[in-house]
Amino acid sequence: MGCELSKLAAAKSRNQSAHEGSHPPPQTATDPRLPLTARQKFTVMASWRAVGRALEPTGVYMFIRLFEENAELLNLFTKFRDLKTKEQQSASMELAEHARTVMTTLDEGIKSLDDMDTFLAYLHQAGASHTKIPGFDRQYFWKIEKPFLDAVERTLEDRYSENVENIYKLTIKFIIETLIDGFDKAQSDKAKS
Ligand code: HEM
Repeated sequence: MGCELSKLAAAKSRNQSAHEGSHPPPQTATDPRLPLTARQKFTVMASWRAVGRALEPTGVYMFIRLFEENAELLNLFTKFRDLKTKEQQSASMELAEHARTVMTTLDEGIKSLDDMDTFLAYLHQAGASHTKIPGFDRQYFWKIEKPFLDAVERTLEDRYSENVENIYKLTIKFIIETLIDGFDKAQSDKAKS
């Protein structure tokens, strides 16, 4: 009897740890610099794995949407500024390569949401790199917000629930703010030197 009970207790605690492995801890504190709850961070990192397996097509779609809404931004891209139609853009190797670069940056960023020092250093650096682009304005980063959300929705399909959508909105806002901080810091460092 006592033996059965302790077996039951052992099975229960095994189940609990299996359970903990697949669900977010609801009340864990997150880094105060991260504007997501532990649960939201868990959801975005888990659902992002499907995007991570489709970085290039997600990125190409994101850039096609960006240029659809902001044709003038094409002029910043010396390698594909002449690709005026959606068809040309989606067939371009240069655009695909750039899409992969940008998506890899987002991938590294989202995968390091558990480690704010790494996340911030990485995205500050990516933001700073845009200070070398002639004609680039810090506000352009916001132009990618909607195309990013559209592209994630297209890749996640029915996994893009209302809850997931809200979390991606918070996440891309935080990413863009971080890119802009990096851009601004690099620009003020340049002005000083
Ligand atoms: C999600 C936000 C973005 C991320 C993570 C990102 C990331 C990057 C990275 C990693 C590079 C390569 C930097 C290097 O060579 O050192 C790059 C280049 C570039 N980005 Fe962004 N970017 C973002 C948004 C934008 C937006 C919205 C625009 C345009 C309005 C833009 C315009 C450019 C241009 C023109 C280049 C140079 C491309 C080339 O000539 O090779 N980026 N970006």
